[in-house]
Amino acid sequence: MTEPKDNPLLEKLRAGVPGMSRRYLADFEISRISHRFTDVLVIGSGIAGLSAALAAAENEELEVLVLAKSSLEESATRWAQGGIAAVILPERTGDSLEAHMRDTIDVAAGIAEEENLRIMTAEGVERVRELVERGTDFDRNTEGELQLTREGAHSFPRILHRGDTTGQEIARALVEAALKKNNILCRPGTFAIDLLDREGSCIGALVANETGQLEAIWARQTVLATGGVGRLYRETTNPSVATGDGLAMAFRAGARLMDLEFIQFHPTTLYLAGADRFLITEAIRGEGGVLRTQAGDAFMKRFHELADLAPRDVVSRSILEIMKETGENKVWLDLGAIAEDRIRERFPRILELSRSFGIDIIREPIPVRPSAHYSIGGVSTDPNGRTSVPGLLAAGEVACTGVHGANRLGSNSLLEGLVFGHRSGREAARTAAGLPRPEPFPLPKPGKELSPEIVTNTPGGELDLADLLSSLKSLLWYKVGVERNGRDLSSALEQLSTWTAYPLAADFRDVESWTLQNMLQTSWLVTYSALRRMESRGVHYRADHPDRDDLNFSRHLAISRADF
Ligand code: FUM
Repeated sequence: MTEPKDNPLLEKLRAGVPGMSRRYLADFEISRISHRFTDVLVIGSGIAGLSAALAAAENEELEVLVLAKSSLEESATRWAQGGIAAVILPERTGDSLEAHMRDTIDVAAGIAEEENLRIMTAEGVERVRELVERGTDFDRNTEGELQLTREGAHSFPRILHRGDTTGQEIARALVEAALKKNNILCRPGTFAIDLLDREGSCIGALVANETGQLEAIWARQTVLATGGVGRLYRETTNPSVATGDGLAMAFRAGARLMDLEFIQFHPTTLYLAGADRFLITEAIRGEGGVLRTQAGDAFMKRFHELADLAPRDVVSRSILEIMKETGENKVWLDLGAIAEDRIRERFPRILELSRSFGIDIIREPIPVRPSAHYSIGGVSTDPNGRTSVPGLLAAGEVACTGVHGANRLGSNSLLEGLVFGHRSGREAARTAAGLPRPEPFPLPKPGKELSPEIVTNTPGGELDLADLLSSLKSLLWYKVGVERNGRDLSSALEQLSTWTAYPLAADFRDVESWTLQNMLQTSWLVTYSALRRMESRGVHYRADHPDRDDLNFSRHLAISRADF
């Protein structure tokens, strides 16, 4: 690992950080908990997890077990509004696989993994057709043909959508397909605490089951598809399950993680005190929506020649700049130029939801501001989803195939989850079919590497986890957010290094606390990675290094437990 030499904090932390070396979050006696065996264990039930499960289940001799932290439908997939990009009707649109690749590479800021991208664009066509065959009801024109729309930075119409609830429709179709398969078992409400390993190979997971009891699930192959990290931030479009659990688990199990500094912020999220930060799709600006200050100034033309259709990172930074200038905590998205019928047809969910908060978007502008949207980095994988840990595969937002480079083109993430989820499932099934059952015993007692004592309080008293959670989210938002600098990142990392010490040594017994432990570890990893990348590239903007530095940083930055 080549590291810039001028950051003593990074050097110091590499010598060890309290809390970051813990192997298992739960202290368990393997002989005293219940056990279960499966062939392919899939952790997560979004587009990547269910695509993996369906592909693995094509081998009907194998059992596939899908775990979901919440309900099967609750994932970032369900929340996706815009759509899924694929060159499905090139004869009608003039589009091509090369054009889809080129558009993706153009925004990826020099570090897209082109071989994986070639796979994604080419196989994406077949996978999307399969989605349609599985009953996904994308919007069609009056002749019954699939409607394709064009989004920012796509040079052809290639986005399949279903109003502004595309993800919900895909999730519905995939959940139904999975529930129909006899060899797929689904266990919603089951929280994976840690991956189990023997001699460096993953052999399943330790979980808190539906009744909160610890259970060991032994698996020939395990696919991680737990989604992203948006909930580390005070402002996010992500669902409550996007807490970085999979990244933290994979880190503790020794997997190689990559590109964690690249967090994509979405410029337009509904901003109303007390309301969930609901995504306001950029398709609205594609249809003619205009960002304005409260005084009515259409400010984006000051910042970029494409005005409201500028790249997401530019729009997000411009909004923050305007907020500083005006002293307002939001800007306004004006839909006045879009016909009323078009709003009703294209954005029914946003119309309905805004109305529930007393905003009529046909007549009034929507209050918006940026928020954390998508984690580009993740567990590093090969084209078949294999990670650096034998027996462990990963797909979807928790994984990093490198297809997005340092900036993601809108509507490519569902496609990535679909294609690499399928590949991971197929690979897991192929390998599982040739392996014996993993032998559960003997597994070394996990013990505590951090502290000889289990603590649930600090020298000053009981840990106030709610307070810690809210401080963590504010810290990430203000210091590891849209615009970063070395001073803030260093102070955030020092703060996180003290926070990781106590809560990570504690022995908790509930999902909320394990989740907070995962959030602390993941926040630490994201901040550490952002401090290491001393340049601006794609979604990672450093005010103290505003230029791209191809000489030193035209590459991925990897991190694993072995580095500390
Ligand atoms: O604005 C949007 O609809 C977001 C799409 C995406 O993140 O791909």
